[in-house]
Amino acid sequence: MPRRGSPGLATSGAFADKVWPVTSTERSWWRDAVVYQIYPRSFADSNNDGTGDVRGMIDKLDHLTTLGVNAVWISPWYPSPMADGGYDVSDYCDIDPSFGTLADADEFLAAAHERGIRVLIDLVPNHCSIEHPVFQAALAAGPGSPERELFHFRDGSGPDGSVPPNNWGSLFGGSAWQRVVGAEGPEQYYLHMFAPEQPDWNWANPRVAEMFDDVIRFWFDRGVDGLRVDVADGLAKHPDMPDTPIDPATGLGIAYYYQGSPLWNQPELDAIQRHWRSIAEEYSGRHLGERIFVCEANVRELDALMRFVDEGRMHTTFNFDALLCEWTAATLRAVIDRNLIAHASVGAPTTWVLGNHDTTRVATRYGKPETGRPYTLDGGDPAWRARFGDYFYPQPTDIELGRRRARAAALLELALPGPAYIYQGEELGLPEVEDLPDEARQDPSFFRTGGRIKGRDGCRVPLPWSGTTAPYGFGVDATPWLPQPPIWAGLSAAAQDTDPDSTLSLYRRALAIRAGHPALGDGTLAWDEDHPPAVLHFTREPGFGCLVNLSEAPVALPAGAELLLSSGPLDGGLVPPDTTVWLSRWS
Ligand code: GLC
Repeated sequence: MPRRGSPGLATSGAFADKVWPVTSTERSWWRDAVVYQIYPRSFADSNNDGTGDVRGMIDKLDHLTTLGVNAVWISPWYPSPMADGGYDVSDYCDIDPSFGTLADADEFLAAAHERGIRVLIDLVPNHCSIEHPVFQAALAAGPGSPERELFHFRDGSGPDGSVPPNNWGSLFGGSAWQRVVGAEGPEQYYLHMFAPEQPDWNWANPRVAEMFDDVIRFWFDRGVDGLRVDVADGLAKHPDMPDTPIDPATGLGIAYYYQGSPLWNQPELDAIQRHWRSIAEEYSGRHLGERIFVCEANVRELDALMRFVDEGRMHTTFNFDALLCEWTAATLRAVIDRNLIAHASVGAPTTWVLGNHDTTRVATRYGKPETGRPYTLDGGDPAWRARFGDYFYPQPTDIELGRRRARAAALLELALPGPAYIYQGEELGLPEVEDLPDEARQDPSFFRTGGRIKGRDGCRVPLPWSGTTAPYGFGVDATPWLPQPPIWAGLSAAAQDTDPDSTLSLYRRALAIRAGHPALGDGTLAWDEDHPPAVLHFTREPGFGCLVNLSEAPVALPAGAELLLSSGPLDGGLVPPDTTVWLSRWS
């Protein structure tokens, strides 16, 4: 009999003394959901213009139904000049003409709901586009105007005002301050934590909050089930805007998160989020039930991150710890434990996520010598190497190994308690497109760092649906906005549809089992310690087991267990390395 061990409290600090397990009895849809991320530009092209669109999304709902997901999260579909792939919004209450119309969006919502699929959309409250009419009005109104109070406009210093208001760098490279050049010449600066085309809203001004209340209600009224909050940890800035320590790679003040940064996790976020939650609660008794928020927050310390999902604040926050977890038993175990314990302490479910539109695809990442890196960086500058270490440089990819591990990781992810996110194409086992020509690149971080950062285009290449040559059913014969590689010929949804061994078939089976198994979804797990350390085995009641072999040797199935599903073929009844099995247990 395997021994049911303690969960192995791999944490220290705030969560070390929490009682395990903390069971949730609530069964709200979002605590269990499998959520599929649609990056609309790259999902499905219905009008053959090389760009995905909402009608394409409607056409492909069958794919999502057959896959068995419970919800979708749609990356921004709003009107946008696309300086940052739609995260530069020029109208929060409409659809970009290249994606379709509001009527198409309504049709998508209705068609998805008819199939029992919930719809989350992206809310981008930290910044808008320079083409947003409110920003255009602020530019026109000039220094000192109430219109400029809605953004962070400041005078520069020095005799001609040419020194930016502080030393902050932008997350996409270069200064975070852009100088306005008006009819009379250069004048004030405005803050943009991302691209200069993305001016930051000033959340200290109550009119900004009021505008976003209207946006949130606009979409909740249309039937949207939830909002993924972009840059949820960055809306409020320290009112003094002090300099940050110099980043040796850029010579500018550090923009990314560190504890005590004046840019991230400011106390004002509490009131903003509680207020949003109260709006969501207004809808909870209505048709379609609860409306939810999921935060994109990069706050690293778990106790600080857990404040985002405190009672009365947001429903869930992405578990980025898991997103960039190394493929080793010790790290996975530690990440799983500390996140389950931390989230349980505030009664929130832990989200599990292997990829998104900002991160190198999991099938490639797990085929690298170092598996816990974002790999969006690439280049040759020694100062950057000093900051980022070796992952700054390209590392070779063993794609077979990566895909095998990605399949194993998917079964692990889907067996863990809490909602799970699937980034479009993960269900096809798509690798990152690592060799995009520089001329094809679109990511602002590539341009703003002089190519030192290659950026995120490689995970955003349009999906292959059918056929053996590009555009693989993404449109008919159009040129996709990013080129698709020849190696995708065997990876299209059509090619995988009837192949029982395909990654698509694996995902379908896993989601079907997850939907019907009383042990899966929300809840708890217990570790079985009776294995070599590089084998993870946990059980969930009633009668479910999950074993992941991260060792270099095959291992036997646990006694008293029957195979439900395996991420790869067994080896004479043994579980090979880099393989996950789901088990039925009766003892
Ligand atoms: C988030 C998005 C990313 C975007 C950035 C600025 O991190 O996921 O794609 O570039 O916010 O909006």
